[in-house]
Amino acid sequence: MLLSDSHTCPLVSTAKVGKTSLIMSLVSEEFPDDVPLRAEEITIPADVTPERVPTHIVDYSERRAGLCSESCHWIPLINDRTDKDSRVPLILVGNKSDLVEHSSMETILPIMNQYSDIETCVECSAKNLKNISELFYYAQKAVLHPTGPLYCPEEKE
Ligand code: GTP
Ligand code: MG
Repeated sequence: MLLSDSHTCPLVSTAKVGKTSLIMSLVSEEFPDDVPLRAEEITIPADVTPERVPTHIVDYSERRAGLCSESCHWIPLINDRTDKDSRVPLILVGNKSDLVEHSSMETILPIMNQYSDIETCVECSAKNLKNISELFYYAQKAVLHPTGPLYCPEEKE
């Protein structure tokens, strides 16, 4: 899963979702057989991105026991660490689409409804190279042209 802040794209998720594979597939345009725990930090130069902004991609790897039981535990952590006025747009990424026959919309929709900071969602596969460049493009777009939440439950009171 990926979130985006200024022109830095940190990839955050529970372990083994495929963050490192996604970055390596983007960079080398092929699925890596051997993946390190973390990819090197890289900056995609402006002239090869659709939005013409340099984009710095940062990989994370989290090995702390006990944190991995809840798939979205990191979303509140991100919100806690950013001040309320600077909204950090999130892109919800469903990787490994090559392993499922059906769409993962049933899983995605409740998460989208719960977290209004999720700008968009995308299903992809590091293995098939499906939607890889697109998801980084969506992240750039979310930062450059944020739509903002249409409905903010906590402000409704
Ligand atoms: P941590 O750094 O431990 O948090 O894992 P990660 O999120 O970086 O995942 P990583 O890229 O190491 O991938 C974990 C496993 O999933 C590896 O065995 C990958 O080969 C596999 N994998 C990653 N992406 C895909 C995908 O799109 N399809 C399939 N079938 N396997 C994938
Ligand atoms: Mg990794």
